[in-house]
Order: sequence, then structure tokens, then C-alpha cells
Amino acid sequence: MASAKIVIDGKTYEVPIIEGTEGERAIDISKLRAESKVITYDNGFGNTGSCQSAVTFLNGEKGILHYRGYPIEQLAEKSTFVECSYLLNYGELPKKSELRKFDKAIRSSGKIPKGIKDIIDSFPKKAHPMAVCSSSMVALSGFYPELNDVLELDDKKKMSIITQLMGQILTMSTRFYRNSQGKAPRNPKEDLDYCSNFLYMMGMKPDPELAKALDTLLILHADHEQNCSASTARVIGSAHANVFASISGGIDALWGPLHGGANQAVLEMLEQIQKDGGDSKKALQRAKNKEDSFRLMGFGHRVYKNFDPRAKIIKKACDTVLSKLGVKDPLLDIARALEEEALKDPYFVERKLYPNVDFYSGIIYRALGIPTNMFTVMFAIGRLPGWLSQWKEMLEFKGTKIVRPRQIYVGENHRDYLDIKKR
Ligand code: ACO
Repeated sequence: MASAKIVIDGKTYEVPIIEGTEGERAIDISKLRAESKVITYDNGFGNTGSCQSAVTFLNGEKGILHYRGYPIEQLAEKSTFVECSYLLNYGELPKKSELRKFDKAIRSSGKIPKGIKDIIDSFPKKAHPMAVCSSSMVALSGFYPELNDVLELDDKKKMSIITQLMGQILTMSTRFYRNSQGKAPRNPKEDLDYCSNFLYMMGMKPDPELAKALDTLLILHADHEQNCSASTARVIGSAHANVFASISGGIDALWGPLHGGANQAVLEMLEQIQKDGGDSKKALQRAKNKEDSFRLMGFGHRVYKNFDPRAKIIKKACDTVLSKLGVKDPLLDIARALEEEALKDPYFVERKLYPNVDFYSGIIYRALGIPTNMFTVMFAIGRLPGWLSQWKEMLEFKGTKIVRPRQIYVGENHRDYLDIKKR
């Protein structure tokens, strides 16, 4: 096995180098502290491999993304979201009978317990749908206590968890949306495919072309290796917390505007630029100003330093969907102008900041009639099979340990407690 030599205070430590199937290499420092008393420091874990995974491969320099070895471009064109969900979780494309069984199980799992309906119905209309999505997800653990001991889950139970949650997330999120609109919730229909069912429960016409466009978006969001939300789901799962808690944690992490919440933030930013007269150059200036906290939402990525392959597909889909629907959205013109300006601006070029998956997805959701505050829920619906596959892999990997990073303490040194009268 290859190894590296690390010299600390003149003493040499030999550490193994592990290599992945795509040639990426990592120095395994897991025993370094025990031998040298030195830990590694990596702010934001930008250079840290937290696990070994066979689910998704991406190369940020070359703009490559594969699910289980299959390029995202091929999956977006030829596969379906349900098929990709199977692929992510089981490692292989399903045979016809396997896909039929998996799809049927999802279609028949959309019902939610009455108590979950009551929880969702108790939220104020103005609540953010991500709060409802996360709360109802973790609340499910109270209704399925037999699934809470993760070490007792056999393959059959894990499969039923995957199909159950994929069915239930649609019902839970659309129920709250209908409530927030003052409309009666709709129950899932087993004769509808995944995205048609979602559109139906939202109260929209389950048009096959729109459902197909949505399906493609969900495929693009289905997994993205060790991102913030998947890592959160894994961290929670590493303590053997139940799957509902792991997924709910993933939903919470996704909500942040630097992660999945960016799709809502992009739309709000474009609307603000439009309100301010549509001057994209002004927005760009603000984004470059280090005194201003404003960032160009939908731009930049921790790992993509070339382009985000998903953004390329989404940009094309955006044109197709809008022209099919006959929608002329002035926000799309602002987005295009912003992108064009940014891509030739030295600030963005030098920092390798390109549009990410969230830059154009919101415009498609808007054209489909999905309200802005539901955008991140759409992302969560898409990412659910990815979180589940990461959780399942973590659970099944022999060497998984509870995640517990160390720190460099920079606080006060030892001091004695002072009585309140003397402070
Ligand atoms: N607008 C303006 N400047 C930016 C942006 C942006 N969107 N993104 C990064 N930068 C600048 C930073 O200020 C920094 O500049 P400096 O070197 O002069 O200090 C440099 O580019 C590097 O940025 P970091 O924040 O260090 O990069 P990091 O990898 O930590 O962050 C992130 C990546 C969070 C995605 C960032 O690019 C960002 O905030 N983008 C906007 C939010 C967004 O679109 N998030 C969605 C990401 S995709 C997803 O999660 C699904």
C-alpha cells in the first residue's frame, strides 16, 4: 500500500494513502494523533474525506457527476427519478420487475397517520414549508417505533423505509401547501406516477410534459456525495439515531441559503434586482464588495471549480419548459444578463465562480406554478433518495464510527469560579 511521510517536530510518521476507484487519493491520518499527539485542522472540511462511498462520484475540476458510475447527462435524458432512486440505493439499474415492484411500493405508501396530519395542520399558514417538512419527517419516528432501532433493520425493512418516505414526503409537503392556501389537502393517487402525483396533490393539472420536466429536475438533485445535508444525515445516523431523525437533520441543513435554500434566495434576489430597475451590473458590484454581505446567490460551489454539470442541463431545460409553456419570464432575462456579466468579470473568473444547480431551477419551478417558498422543499423531495442511500451505506459499512471531530481550543485557560457578589 502507498504511504506518505509526515514530519512533526523532526520526527517522521508514516501514514497510509488510500486510493479510490477514480484515482483520487487520501492520506489516512486516523492513527496520527495517537502516535504524534497532533490532529489535522481543516476549516469547513474542504480537504477532508469523511467516509468511503460508492454512491456518487464527482470531479469538480472537470465538471463530472456520476450516480453509481452512470453520467448525470445520460440519467437526466434516459432515466426517471424513481429509477434513479433505486439505482442510488441498490447500486444497479433495476430490472423491469424490480422497478415495477419499487414503483408500486412508493405509490402505495403515500398515506400518512392521522397524528401526522394533525401536526401538519397545527402549523400556522405563514410557517416556512421546510419547517413543516423537517418536523413531520422526524415526527414519523413516533408513529413507527418498530423502525427506530437501526441495528434491527433487515434489507426488507430498509427497502420499505425508502419507499415509504418517498411516498410520504409528497403527501406531507403538499398537505401543508394546500393548508397554507386555505384549500383542502388531497390524498395521493396510486394510478399517478411520482411527479404527476405531486402536481395533483398540489392542486395543479398533472400534465405529462410538466411532470417530465419536474422528474428531470428531481434526478439532477437526487444525490451529490458528501455535501452539507448528506453529511448531516450521516453524522446523525452515525450515532445510530433512527432514520427519520437522520433525514430530518438533512432537511434542516438543506434549508440554509448557502446550500439548498439558495434556490429560493436566487428567485428573491432576481425579484429584488427587477424591483430596483433590473440593473444586473449593480448586483454584481454588490457581490464583489467585501464590505457588503450580499452574495450572488446561485453562484459558486465548494467543489465545482469549472462548471456545475447540473446547471448546464437545467439551463437547457429552463429554455425548453418556458417555451413549451409559452411563458416569457423577465426574471430569466435578468438571470441570463447576470450570468453573462459574471462569467467575464475577473472577480468571478479568478475565483472560479460559476452558476450552480440552484441558479436556474427556481425559474423552472416558478414557470410550473410552484410558489417560491416551496422551492427548497422541491430540492428536499429530490434529495431524499440520496440521503437515504448515504444513510444506508453508512449503516452497512463495516468500519463506520460515530462522527466526532476534534477541535483546537482557543478559549480561556483554567480559572477559578468567582462568587456572584465578587464579580
Ligand atoms: N458571490 C460573491 N462572492 C462569492 C460567492 C458568491 N456567490 N461565492 C464565493 N464567493 C467568493 C468568496 O467571497 C471568496 O472570496 P475571497 O477569496 O476574496 O475571500 C471566494 O469566492 C471563495 O468563496 P468561499 O466562500 O470560500 O467558498 P466556499 O467553497 O466556502 O463556499 C458556497 C461555497 C457556499 C456555495 C459559496 O460559493 C456561496 O455562498 N454561494 C452562494 C450561495 C449558493 O448559491 N449556494 C448553493 C450552492 S449549491 C448547493 O448547495 C446545492
